[in-house]
Formats: sequence, structure tokens, C-alpha cells
Amino acid sequence: MTGPLLSVRDLRTHFVRGKETLRAVQGVSFDVEPGRALAIVGESGSGKTVTARSLLRLLPRTARIANGQAILRVPKRAGASGGHRRGSGSASDAHREVDLLALPERELRRVRGREVGMVFQNAMEAMNPTLTLERQLTEHLLWHGICGKTEARERAVRALGDVGIPEPERRIRTYPFQLSGGMRQRAMIAMAMLTEPALLIADEPTTAVDVTVQRQILDLLVEVKNRGTGIVMITHDLGVARYFCDDVVVMYAGRVVERAPTTALLDEPQHPYSVGLLGSSVELGDRARPLLPIPGSPPDLARLPSGCAFHPRCGRAELPRCQTDQDLVTLTDGRETACWKAVADA
Ligand SMILES: Nc1ncnc2c1ncn2[C@@H]1O[C@H](COP(=O)(O)OP(=O)(O)OP(=O)(O)O)[C@@H](O)[C@H]1O
Ligand code: SF4
Ligand SMILES: [Mg+2]
Repeated sequence: MTGPLLSVRDLRTHFVRGKETLRAVQGVSFDVEPGRALAIVGESGSGKTVTARSLLRLLPRTARIANGQAILRVPKRAGASGGHRRGSGSASDAHREVDLLALPERELRRVRGREVGMVFQNAMEAMNPTLTLERQLTEHLLWHGICGKTEARERAVRALGDVGIPEPERRIRTYPFQLSGGMRQRAMIAMAMLTEPALLIADEPTTAVDVTVQRQILDLLVEVKNRGTGIVMITHDLGVARYFCDDVVVMYAGRVVERAPTTALLDEPQHPYSVGLLGSSVELGDRARPLLPIPGSPPDLARLPSGCAFHPRCGRAELPRCQTDQDLVTLTDGRETACWKAVADA
């Protein structure tokens, strides 16, 4: 496959609040490669979830995608069970491309949950509490026309086993509320992976579970990644990013302020906001280090500061230039930062 699996370009998502426009996502761009995981990190309210949900157009009614492209290149699946892929593209195509933001709703529903799997912070959001796992998982496969009923059940049991749910033959007959939080989260991952999606979007998939289960879920996602699935992982936990993700995008006030390979970003952050974020976060195995919160608070998205939106909180700000400069600039090795001072120092 040539080119990335997902290319997001200049995504802008706004909320309408009375007469005000809240710019929750403002020109976000990134790529996701097959078999690689991209972390999206940033303080609460920085636009991580709105970015992820915009890609699947799963947004509240007050939200509007004002601009952008999200080109998904879906590879042809080797050994997929007999021609279940619908849509454009001839049999000889290596892949087909769809713009998730422009697809008609009917087509998007086919892509969502099939080519793109979703894992949310709260498993109950993705599951129907009134249906057994068997119904939900098999109906998911049947709805997408992937296989018949008997095979769907077999696949569903196998998928539950694959995510480490013990006695999947028995557990498949239970309802989501009968499972522990960790088991539910795994069942949701099983459901997301059932259709062997090319891309998995995971929004804080391990926040609601304890550390042991967190590690198991991450190891599971490593396997998923190693099978070639591209992953977008939204996380507050920089330890999760370090353990699991290949690249990191740092968001502040709806913008990408830095983008770099994980080790480069976590070991040598360039943007003052990334530096602050690292200083204010606990990483696994680093619990003794004193935390230094970033002073101030994120801006009101309806009244964003001009230029670099971080300037009112930035210890390195130089006015007036920081009130006008804000472009994402490439440093070296493909890393990008939206701070002119960091670029000048590099
Ligand atoms: N339903 C909504 N109505 C109005 N504004 C919203 C809504 N959801 C999100 N927003 C706005 O979009 C911004 C980004 O929200 P988002 O949920 O993407 O943040 P986040 O980075 O995922 O934060 P967290 O780490 O807390 O999950 C918020 O600051 C908020 O102002
Ligand atoms: S552009 Fe200025 S305000 Fe923004 S991060 Fe860099 S130094 Fe700080
Ligand atoms: Mg969120």
C-alpha cells in the first residue's frame, strides 16, 4: 500500500453555544500508518475526543464539521471471507480510498464498525445493555454482511477468547452488566476487532480499569497492531503512549502543537506546552517525581488568544511575536512544532 492508512487534513469542528462559535478542533492534520499507533495527548478539553468522533461523524447535534478531509485507504483483506467488501473498487485494486468526512451517511455506516473499529472510554456506550454478548457480536457481523449465522457465532466466541475472556462459550451468553469493568472493556475490544478493521480508534480505552487489566489490554492492542492494524490512541497517560505508541500528537486548544516519534517527544519535548504536559503528568514507574502543574488554565474556545493560544500560560512567551505566530513547523527527523522559539533553538 502506498501512503498512510489514514490522512487527516485541516479538520475543523465547531460547537454552537448560543450566539458563540466554540472552536473545539481547529485545523488538525495527522497521518496514521498501518501497523503503527499514534497517540493523541493533551489536557482535558484540548479536543482529543472531538477529533476522534469527528472522524466517524459521531458528534453531538450542536457540533458541525466546518472543514477537513479524512482519507482512509482501506487495504484489500487477504483471505477475507468471500467478497464481503461492498462499495467502490475493482477486484484488482490494492486498496480503495474514502473520505470519512464526505461519505454519504449510508456508506459511512458500512465503514464505521467494519473498516474502522471504535473503543470508547466507557464500554457501556458501545454496547446495548439489553442484549447478550452473543446477540451484539453476531449481529455486528451479520449487519455488515461478513458471514452467516453459524460462522458469526464461532467468530464471536473466538474473538472473546482472543481478548482473554475466560470460558468464552459460557460468557457469550451473558449481558454486559454481568461482566466486570475490565471484562466489558475487553468485550468491546473484541467487538471492535471482529470485522478485522484496518483502523482502530481507541479513546482512553484503559482509563476505567485497574493497572493489571490496563497492561493486559495494552498487550492485546500490541498484538492487534502487529497484525497490521493502524491505531489512534487517545490517552492522558504518557506511560501508555510510551509503552504502546510509535508517534505522538500533542493537542492544545483544538490545535496540534507538536508531533513527533514517541521517544523523541517524551524524552526531548520541544514545544513549551509539551514540556509542561510532561512535567505535570505521571508516567508509569516515575511516581516519585514531583509534579509541576502548568500554570493557568486552557482558554475559552469561543475567545481564543491570538497567535499561539498558549501564550498567556507560557513561561517563554515573547510578545508581540507569540501573539501572531502559530504555524506547525518541521524541525528535523519529521518532527513538527508550533513554537517559533523552539524552532529557532533547534
Ligand atoms: N457536547 C458538547 N457541547 C459543547 N461543547 C463541547 C461538547 N463536547 C466537547 N465540547 C467542547 O470541545 C472541547 C474539546 O472537548 P473534548 O471532549 O474533545 O476534549 P478532550 O481533549 O477529549 O478532553 P478529556 O481529556 O477531558 O476527554 C471542550 O473543551 C468543550 O469546550
Ligand atoms: S510560540 Fe511563544 S507562547 Fe507559544 S509556545 Fe512558543 S514561546 Fe510559548
Ligand atoms: Mg476526551
